[in-house]
Amino acid sequence: MGTNVLKTETPTSIDDAVYFLKENLNVGDHRPSISFGFGDPSCFECFRTTPIAEDAIVEAVRSAKFNSYAPTGGILPARRAVADYLSRDLPYRLSPDDVYLTLGCNQAAEITIEVLARPGANILLPRPGYPDIEAYAIFNKLEIRQFDLLPERGWEVDLDTIEAMSDESTVAMVIINPGNPSGCVYTYNHLNKIAETARKLGIVVIADEVYGHLVYGGNPFVPMSLFATIVPVITLGSIAESINKLLVYSPFPPTLIQGAIPQILEKTTQGFFSKTINILRKNLDICYDKLKEIPCMMITQKPEGAFFAMVKLKLLLLEDIEDDMEFCLKLAKEESLIILPGDREARNIYFLTNFHAGVTVGLKNWLLMTFAVEYSSLEDGLGRLKSFCQRHAKKYTLTGSTAVDQQIHVGTLNLAHGVEKLK
Ligand SMILES: Cc1ncc(COP(=O)(O)O)c(C=O)c1O
Repeated sequence: MGTNVLKTETPTSIDDAVYFLKENLNVGDHRPSISFGFGDPSCFECFRTTPIAEDAIVEAVRSAKFNSYAPTGGILPARRAVADYLSRDLPYRLSPDDVYLTLGCNQAAEITIEVLARPGANILLPRPGYPDIEAYAIFNKLEIRQFDLLPERGWEVDLDTIEAMSDESTVAMVIINPGNPSGCVYTYNHLNKIAETARKLGIVVIADEVYGHLVYGGNPFVPMSLFATIVPVITLGSIAESINKLLVYSPFPPTLIQGAIPQILEKTTQGFFSKTINILRKNLDICYDKLKEIPCMMITQKPEGAFFAMVKLKLLLLEDIEDDMEFCLKLAKEESLIILPGDREARNIYFLTNFHAGVTVGLKNWLLMTFAVEYSSLEDGLGRLKSFCQRHAKKYTLTGSTAVDQQIHVGTLNLAHGVEKLK
């Protein structure tokens, strides 16, 4: 019994959604498949990590100083290096005891939620949000209350809702800044308001800043810990994924990697980060321009940080596609291109019968895509996306004197000027 129940009721991750869509690729299509599904830039040569990080790890291995178990929370030199690094952005100094090292940001979220969970408690999570955090909360029996991020206000937190939905059992609220999947970068003022609201409600702010400093819009990155004098803040972060994936063999951060951290943080130059940010900025511009050419797609807010875009699907302009999940499944089959649906319920219809229930980001008829891919894949993928949308666009004909038999895509027409649907 257990297996079936788990398969249909356990929320899963974005990775699972990607794998599910991959199973729907058409094996007869000989073009390489392209995934705009999950953000994993380190697998592309253009986003390869700095040699400084690689050398630091080799040196840590060769030194034989880091072959033993590490204390829980991390070895002192690594914690000190992280504290010094983060203090550069703060008007006060963090101490090594303020730092707890985990195996990436996910484990940091998992531990934080485990620590905060208690019977009857609830936690406020953003929608759209990062599904793994939601899964940890469910696993730890914390009731989830979702507050909306407002696309028309640059995906800011709807602070009025936060106040309305919290009560004496609310333990924390989560923000993701820069946002995944929204791409928002919060201003100082907005973060200040979040801090004031959380203080009023007596809750902790958990700030997932895994994309901290990865910004390329108008707003600079402001760490939530700037407001730690107003409200308790737990910041979750991570070093580059390319590094922490190298030596994952224990449930705790490997001592060898911890041994390399001081060198990585001290020696990695600003040039490395600028190069990555420039590639991402260029990719985003290409993506944004191309998506503007596709009538059924709308980016309400150009991302300013991280490397994801939320795209609203205008279903009225499409025929034979009912929701975001169907769009993504057909896209995978017809174009060998993977983009994620935004909605959990749409996925469940398919997953409950075929696979398992899952969580993406909780927004119906939105799509989630990353632009942190190699340039050639980005261009090819966007071309495939455009042809797919053209093929599935509702066809209309003009009535009246102008262009009676002309078949064109509805997105190019003004409906007020005598347009009649073909079927
Ligand atoms: C918002 C957010 N938090 C946490 C993580 C996980 O980070 P890590 O790979 O360091 O565990 C990710 C990775 O995609 C993320 O997007």
